[in-house]
Amino acid sequence: MNASMIASAAARPAASGGPFDLAAEAAYRTWRARKLERFPRSLGELVVEVRDPRALTPAERAAILDRCTRTNMAVYASGCGADPDKDIPRRLGLQLGLRTLDPNHLADDDGISPLAVWDPPSGDDSPKKTRGEFIPYTNRGIGWHTDGYYNRPERTVRALLLHCVSAAETGGENDLLDHEIAYLRLRDESPDHIRALMAPDAMTIPARMQNGIVERAAQTGPVFSIDADGHLHMRYTARTVSIEWKRDAATAAALAALERVLAEDSPYRFRGRLAPGMGLVCNNVLHTRTPFTDSTAHKRLIYRARYYERASGA
Ligand SMILES: [Fe+2]
Repeated sequence: MNASMIASAAARPAASGGPFDLAAEAAYRTWRARKLERFPRSLGELVVEVRDPRALTPAERAAILDRCTRTNMAVYASGCGADPDKDIPRRLGLQLGLRTLDPNHLADDDGISPLAVWDPPSGDDSPKKTRGEFIPYTNRGIGWHTDGYYNRPERTVRALLLHCVSAAETGGENDLLDHEIAYLRLRDESPDHIRALMAPDAMTIPARMQNGIVERAAQTGPVFSIDADGHLHMRYTARTVSIEWKRDAATAAALAALERVLAEDSPYRFRGRLAPGMGLVCNNVLHTRTPFTDSTAHKRLIYRARYYERASGA
């Protein structure tokens, strides 16, 4: 555990008085009522039809941002079909205030990762050759997580864009849960859960070593944190390998409660499958991926872009 990392996480302002401040019960109650009142009742309510994601009309853009405000996510359905143009997600993101891509050592050079079952070309000696060791580049299922939970605080992934170029023969669905709903369910059960998960030493991602070299330093930080602008951020993975949780009763109880929330069949959880030309824009909500099977004609390809900004009208 690195003391300076804990200090940097703890130094973030607690947005005191905002709805996510445990001391501000009235603000929480007001926020909670409004959140539930405006929450979409079905996946269909999240879907926005757009003609061309590269050039949204003002109404299309407003509709996407409205969903992001209400539930931190929107699904767009466009006529782009299987067009593999990476400018589709890039230009869509720019129109939503998403400017700064998180560089990924496995991404293509432009920072947008083509998620597909990795089939390395022979003789490839680039960092990409190790892609097959990472679950996103396989056809395996992925449990609940937020993206970039292992990143340093200055590389916090606040938004995620997934654009579907082609879908698998079967499978490859995503479960989606607004992380603010997870917070709400836990706080309703016990504010102690929130206290435990906001602790700056709640979770530690051990260093990743590659050939004896530290490729990524250990990261210690909270699950829930509040951005300087008052927005809630969540770092989480349901994985049990390569993660160390604080060993105390409060953290164990909070994690067990969170696992129950993620397992429950709730009207706030959505499951969908992106078809070619469709995509998900979200403020890094909790999500999963079911396993999938490709065929020659239907080989899943999803472009993934991670950003440091939240989707906003700015
Ligand atoms: Fe993800």
